[in-house]
Amino acid sequence: MSEIRFDGRVAVVTGAGGGLGREYALLLASRGCKVVVNDLGGAVDGTGAGTTAAEKVVQEIKDAGGEAVPNFDSVADWEGAQNIIKTAIDNYGKIDILINNAGILRDKSFLKMELEDYEKVIAVHLNGTFYCSKAAWPYMRENNYGRIVSAASAAGVYGNFGQANYGAAKMGIIGLMHVLKQEGAKYNIKANVIVPIAGTRMTATVLPPNLVEILKPEYVAPMVVWACSDRCEFSGYTFVAGAGYFSRTAFMEGPGVFFDPSQGITLEMIDENIDKIVSLEGARTFENATEQTGYALSKLNLG
Ligand code: NAI
Repeated sequence: MSEIRFDGRVAVVTGAGGGLGREYALLLASRGCKVVVNDLGGAVDGTGAGTTAAEKVVQEIKDAGGEAVPNFDSVADWEGAQNIIKTAIDNYGKIDILINNAGILRDKSFLKMELEDYEKVIAVHLNGTFYCSKAAWPYMRENNYGRIVSAASAAGVYGNFGQANYGAAKMGIIGLMHVLKQEGAKYNIKANVIVPIAGTRMTATVLPPNLVEILKPEYVAPMVVWACSDRCEFSGYTFVAGAGYFSRTAFMEGPGVFFDPSQGITLEMIDENIDKIVSLEGARTFENATEQTGYALSKLNLG
């Protein structure tokens, strides 16, 4: 099997000063990609800022013979996001790959969560992903090439206690990528999602030390970097990776039941058929919203 290379490609990795983002940047650079290493350099809760984190990763890449430049802007700021992408354009003339990875945590039970904890987490994860993707989009469209991989989380896909803000932001990102899949299709822009499982400073406080060791970020990076390669023809996919486990998660819709609306639909009909309505046996995904609506209408004679 031929080696997967990124020679001539340019990537932006947000939040690449540590944890997962650093691994993505190192792997891309080791395969010939020029990388913008973005990191605001703050604490896990999003407070503070600094240049050291991004600078260190750039140095690591250079020491290994790769090419990289740092950027210290916040993804949560529209001007900042534009500047992150501009760093790629100014230094390397284009952007082929965007990994929306920057993230913070402000966990609290829903009852105790302050609006500020919600707004900050939405700002970094959801707005940051929207802003960076939007800033990169015209360049990718123009070049007829783009690979976007955005970080979601099992906390959104399946739910996690104390992460109402984070779960909402992460599912928003999946919705955004589903739409970018549609709008990017004509321009060879693939928009996918990663649900990582890794021991990083973000998870170190909740995971036991032996699990942090098993869940190395470097075990996630090959999936993400593959999705950034021209080998990836998938779009709108949500990949799962951690501890050597790789999979795909998706919204599935069961075959459901069809009633004739002209005969009237009652509460009791729902009640009598609820097991069939909720069954996921024979479930499938849909390519887009139109296809799903088409299925809902498929038993009707629309003349
Ligand atoms: P991390 O805390 O090690 O890395 C996140 C990086 O983002 C930090 O270096 C931080 O400085 C940077 N950052 C924060 N706000 C920023 C901003 N406004 N602009 C630019 N950079 C900013 O955490 P980790 O674990 O590496 O997380 C990476 C991504 O993966 C995050 O989006 C996280 O939500 C997601 N994730 C991680 C999981 C895990 O198991 N570690 C599980 C599910 C999702």
